[in-house]
Amino acid sequence: MYKTHTCGELRSSHIGQTVTLAGWVHRRRDHGGVTFIDLRDRFGLVQVVADPLKFPEAHQVMDAVRPEWVVQIIGLVRARPEGLANPNMPTGEIEVESHEVKILNMAKTPPFLIHKEEDVDENFRLKYRYLDLRHERMRRNIELRHRVVKFIRDYLDARGFLEIETPILFKTTPEGARDYLVPSRVHPGEFYALPQSPQQLKQLLMVAGMERYFQIARCFRDEDQRGDRQPEFTQLDLEMSFIEREDIMRLIEGMFTEMVAKVVPHKRLLASPWPRIFYKDAMERFGKDNPDIRYGMELKNISDLAMGSGFAVFEDTVTSGGHVRGINASGCGGYSRKQLDELTEQVKKHGAKGLAYLAVAESGEHRSSFAKFLSPERVQAIIERLEGKPGDLLLFVADAKPAVVFESLARLRVLMAERLKLIDPNVLGFCWVIDFPFVNWNEEEQRWDPSHHLFTSPMREDIPLLDTDPGKARGQQYDLVLNNYEVGGGSIRIHNRALQEKVFALIGLDPETARQRFGHMLEAFEYGTPPHGGIAPGIDRICMILADEPNIREVIAFPKNQMARDVMADAPSPAEEKQLKDLHIKISS
Ligand code: AMO
Ligand code: AMP
Repeated sequence: MYKTHTCGELRSSHIGQTVTLAGWVHRRRDHGGVTFIDLRDRFGLVQVVADPLKFPEAHQVMDAVRPEWVVQIIGLVRARPEGLANPNMPTGEIEVESHEVKILNMAKTPPFLIHKEEDVDENFRLKYRYLDLRHERMRRNIELRHRVVKFIRDYLDARGFLEIETPILFKTTPEGARDYLVPSRVHPGEFYALPQSPQQLKQLLMVAGMERYFQIARCFRDEDQRGDRQPEFTQLDLEMSFIEREDIMRLIEGMFTEMVAKVVPHKRLLASPWPRIFYKDAMERFGKDNPDIRYGMELKNISDLAMGSGFAVFEDTVTSGGHVRGINASGCGGYSRKQLDELTEQVKKHGAKGLAYLAVAESGEHRSSFAKFLSPERVQAIIERLEGKPGDLLLFVADAKPAVVFESLARLRVLMAERLKLIDPNVLGFCWVIDFPFVNWNEEEQRWDPSHHLFTSPMREDIPLLDTDPGKARGQQYDLVLNNYEVGGGSIRIHNRALQEKVFALIGLDPETARQRFGHMLEAFEYGTPPHGGIAPGIDRICMILADEPNIREVIAFPKNQMARDVMADAPSPAEEKQLKDLHIKISS
């Protein structure tokens, strides 16, 4: 037997017991001839002592071991001497007096420290991910992820859901990214597509009568990488029949509320029930449809006050159909020229042409880049609109493109909230964003794009708008938003062939292409499809937030780097000539 106990489980109740432990040498130190090591396994650390006088052989071995060597120790659990207990360590009241020590394996000196975190380049960590995962923080993240998934499985099982696997080798399932293709050897020139989500399959499971489905599903999307994106990631994919939006929202809200209490009890929900925000209001108030609602500093529209104000930048913008909006960075009225220039650079990164400011003063002597052009009444009205008090800094962006105003101010709001420490990391600001536009106009390709995906149903009362004014129609889509991230998306689906064909036509899929790509869906819809809908919370993003990590790579055991590369195994990598030949593939460059 390699071990009778784990390192982390030993407490004062074990005092007097002889135990066998096995693990890694975390740290070693010598004190006056006595050797101490912290022995580590997945369950924790325990102090092991080797006394050269009492157990000279054990001491000799202990003296030779180095960090990350794998050892087995037989010893006696005893209380630490008076005054030497370590309250920061769960096993801190005891230590193990080693009687026998056996080296199970030696280790090279690791490329970075394991017993504490150093500032190491991330690619280096990823190259040695199996060592990086030995870090306490990473072990905690992996454990948290396990708890989250386990909780989900138990919660849904108790509510009659079936976990059903769906194929990875499939056909294009578009969610707005490029597909990963897999060439077929047996069908020359043909390809499988890895699913961007199991969307079609879960709907077909509803046609099949499964009623309540879920899956911890791997999804594949070839898109530009960001901190919250990976080429392959995991969703809690879920679909239900005979339900309405309300049923899905209630289920998900109940599940995450209980999960937080159980898995991350040090965190609390901002509000219950979760706020529901119309897409339009989310844009108006926060400049984005995945807002952080834990603090105020909301955007304010001053386009009406800009008209006739005498300040050309503002007026011309509004005349050309643009917007002028601003935020109140409370208490930042003392910002220097240099600080203001730096904020201007920040908004310029997101397309803004400038940043107008007004530092509110006690009297009318406000420091401002534009107030001199305006009447005192107009300045006062703007200050009131932004609820400015003396000492506040009001920041404005004007642009002919509303998207630029929203994006640059939304980013500025987040930046200022971080600077002003308005964010409590232990608060979870869950909210729902609802009533999205059904389609968005794609300027480049001059056509309508689905704002969620092809299978989302329009609001029933908005169906006539598809013929007259598609841009005004709302979709039956709901997004789950948490602390500045979209952590889930779902919708009530179309369940009738005629409406599905109408939507395909609206977004410019000709009937032949629609039939080739989605013929199986259209056909299935003719065999008694129940009304259905679902959602897919992103497991990686949720775990990232619950673990207080800055990106999803930290909660994935073996992630790709930001260039979509696995730097440990070095993938992707070239294929052998014979493999390519079998697959009927020629590399042209
Ligand atoms: P959607 O495309 O909104 O919906 O995706 C759902 C959630 O998946 C997560 N996510 C990602 N996480 C990491 N890396 C990525 N590249 C990535 N892309 C998406 C996000 C997102 O909110 N089939 C629909 C769901 C449905 O309608 O039921 C879908 O996939 O958290
Ligand atoms: P100017 O008239 O170009 O000197 O600009 C006067 C002030 O307006 C400066 O503080 C600029 O940063 C600011 N400004 C210029 N363009 C914009 C814009 N599009 N939105 C907000 N402020 C702007």
